[in-house]
Amino acid sequence: MLRHNLLFDPVKRPEITKDIEFDRYVEIHKNQTGPTSADAVESIKRQFYEAGAHASVENLDKIWGFVSPKVEENNGLAEFIRDYRGAESQYFFPWLINVFRSPATALEISYGAGPDLNGEWDEGILDTDDPIVPFVYDDPAFVYNRERQLYIADLAISVMEERAERDRSIRPKIVDYGAGRMAWMRRHGLLEMCYHYMYLGTSDIYAFDKDQTIKPEDLFIPRSLQDLGIKYKYGDFTSQLTNPDCRDADLIILGGVACYIPSDVFYGKIVPAIYGLLNEDGIFFFDLQTSTPCYRHSMDILDWQNINLPEDPVVVIDSVEKARKHLWDHGIKFSAEYKIDTFNKIPSAVMITMQKL
Ligand SMILES: C[S@@+](CC[C@H](N)C(=O)[O-])C[C@H]1O[C@@H](n2cnc3c(N)ncnc32)[C@H](O)[C@@H]1O
Repeated sequence: MLRHNLLFDPVKRPEITKDIEFDRYVEIHKNQTGPTSADAVESIKRQFYEAGAHASVENLDKIWGFVSPKVEENNGLAEFIRDYRGAESQYFFPWLINVFRSPATALEISYGAGPDLNGEWDEGILDTDDPIVPFVYDDPAFVYNRERQLYIADLAISVMEERAERDRSIRPKIVDYGAGRMAWMRRHGLLEMCYHYMYLGTSDIYAFDKDQTIKPEDLFIPRSLQDLGIKYKYGDFTSQLTNPDCRDADLIILGGVACYIPSDVFYGKIVPAIYGLLNEDGIFFFDLQTSTPCYRHSMDILDWQNINLPEDPVVVIDSVEKARKHLWDHGIKFSAEYKIDTFNKIPSAVMITMQKL
């Protein structure tokens, strides 16, 4: 079952209802739970070792050792691998490992980058005829990821430019919570831009992530983190909400992170704390994924940990508005703008930009 085949004709905002996608999702998935037959596991294993004929057996054993228990216990995952010809790919299984271990690294595949069966990082997957290529290109989660990174990059550029124009002596400050691999900077030509502002002595970027498999010093070669004005630290970002380094921020980014946080904690604790960290008219970006088949699929089949998946963009906007008005009554005043994922036929997320008033 290919995830992009689940899409329907484009829907306009008022036509979106939770059941068009949800009923179909349930229909398709109802036979996908339970263990995988021994024959199916064997066939995936055979294909995987054949595809890896050029890779080291030690590496293949390591990958298979990690993936096989998940395949054995989850027939949906076996079907997913079969439908995408994942076992024939040089990249699919290493990608799966990252889905389980390092979601931000797994997202790099949306730019055609990831580790191969030998564990070597390849930036040129899109230039190959590997079976993973259509998936990388079309999957709604990846289509949306590219849109989100571009959106954040634009936001960051406008904040840096606007602040630099206003007063060169004040360094614009950007805080990225759950920063992952900072794709918004790396994938959208911002490296030189940040270097430029750093050179002018006007940019400071604080990044935090709890994923210690990400090695920030490797991300921005040929520039060093210091050159770019980036301070990257490991840890739970919720313990950084009183960190003086994050105070007076011009832009605070939570890209692909809010869905992991229960909404009462998010609006009750995180948003008020972020309000306290922002500059006078600072901007807060976050996004919320919606309950599209692609994300439901990720949760069930890929074991994607997610606790807060609103049904559709209209529900997202209504609930953010409700929370915003409630915060307003408590003196926490933001204006808000919403951008629905426009690249997918069924919008898979809403991007929310709040500006402190
Ligand atoms: C879906 S990824 C998105 C990464 C990045 N913001 C992007 O847009 O590519 C979510 C990231 O948030 C991080 N994360 C989630 N909850 C976190 C927390 N409480 N503290 C720090 N990092 C967190 C995860 O480790 C992961 O790297």
